[in-house]
Amino acid sequence: MSDTPLILGIETSCDETGVAVVEGTRVRSSVLGSQTEAHARFGGVVPEVAARAHVEAIRPLVHTALTAAGVHSDQVDAVAATRGPGLAGALMVGYSFAKALAWSLGKPFVGVDHMEGHLIAPILAHPGYAPPAVVVLASGGHSQIVHVRGWGDYDVMGRTIDDAAGEAFDKLARFMGLGYPGGPAIDLASDGGNPEAIPFPRALRDRPYDFSFSGLKTSVTTYLEKGKATGSLGSLADVAASLQEAIVDVLVDKTMAAVDATGVEVVAGGGGVLANRRLRDRLAAEAARRGVRLCLPPPELCTDNGAMIAVAAGFRLERGDTAGWDSDVDPGLRLGA
Ligand code: KG4
Ligand code: ZN
Repeated sequence: MSDTPLILGIETSCDETGVAVVEGTRVRSSVLGSQTEAHARFGGVVPEVAARAHVEAIRPLVHTALTAAGVHSDQVDAVAATRGPGLAGALMVGYSFAKALAWSLGKPFVGVDHMEGHLIAPILAHPGYAPPAVVVLASGGHSQIVHVRGWGDYDVMGRTIDDAAGEAFDKLARFMGLGYPGGPAIDLASDGGNPEAIPFPRALRDRPYDFSFSGLKTSVTTYLEKGKATGSLGSLADVAASLQEAIVDVLVDKTMAAVDATGVEVVAGGGGVLANRRLRDRLAAEAARRGVRLCLPPPELCTDNGAMIAVAAGFRLERGDTAGWDSDVDPGLRLGA
């Protein structure tokens, strides 16, 4: 096998079927089958709908990814899939498909932690990205600050004690009638709004690296209900910009506190919320002020995709960390546990 193995990566932990071919850290192809429309009318992801949609999408997407990369399936060095965390039924579709494909090709099979995929994804845009680093992970299901001491050596310094950051965006957007998924909707709705218009709460100031977003949710919904009842509701852009600022503030402050405490010179991020324009700008400003290097994937590689699974699999393969034919998904997998 060459130094830059050719890996087919499959991601099916939630509502996106992601398939990619990655060579070392170079994305040869990355395709996505989005299920957003199938779930939008329910206002959130329905596990059974997700699993069925993955079944329908996976074979054509693998074919498209291989064709787009100009690669025949027997040229890949390994096949990888997300092992967890995520929805059991959804995970099983990608994991079983990838395992069967690897077996039939006589190639190694690699199981990848979804959050490790998000954590390594910045390398696809910043080839020099390497530990030690502090990484902020914020998605629909998880919010964590991780001290990456080495690839595969993760110290989770803090996490959310209730909702994940993306979940807060999604729930608030639904309440505001902005649709699903909520993060991109609030990101857009905040345009022209004043982030300081409404002082929504910043929780857990006393716990340096942990998050809590449930108080913010209560505060925003109370503000909106009161505003509607009294006819005093201000601009929607101000509400969106202010609640976004409350989430961004805690993510940035706590990430930078972790950077200061560990003395790392690299700060990175991953997960859907890292596609947020305000968060990216604020992280860039704080990293520049400290003279540390900021490594963020482009927005389309912050949200779920197959490329992050393939590139993370490459590091596992290097360590000889392949999965057996009898291995199974782990919906409750925890980084660093
Ligand atoms: O990583 P991801 O694609 O899936 C999970 O692993 O959960 O993250 C999805 C989350 C959703 O909650 C979505 O609302 C949020 O990322 N998100 C954003 C933005 N784009 C996606 N949140 C804030 N601003 C965005 N631009
Ligand atoms: Zn994710």
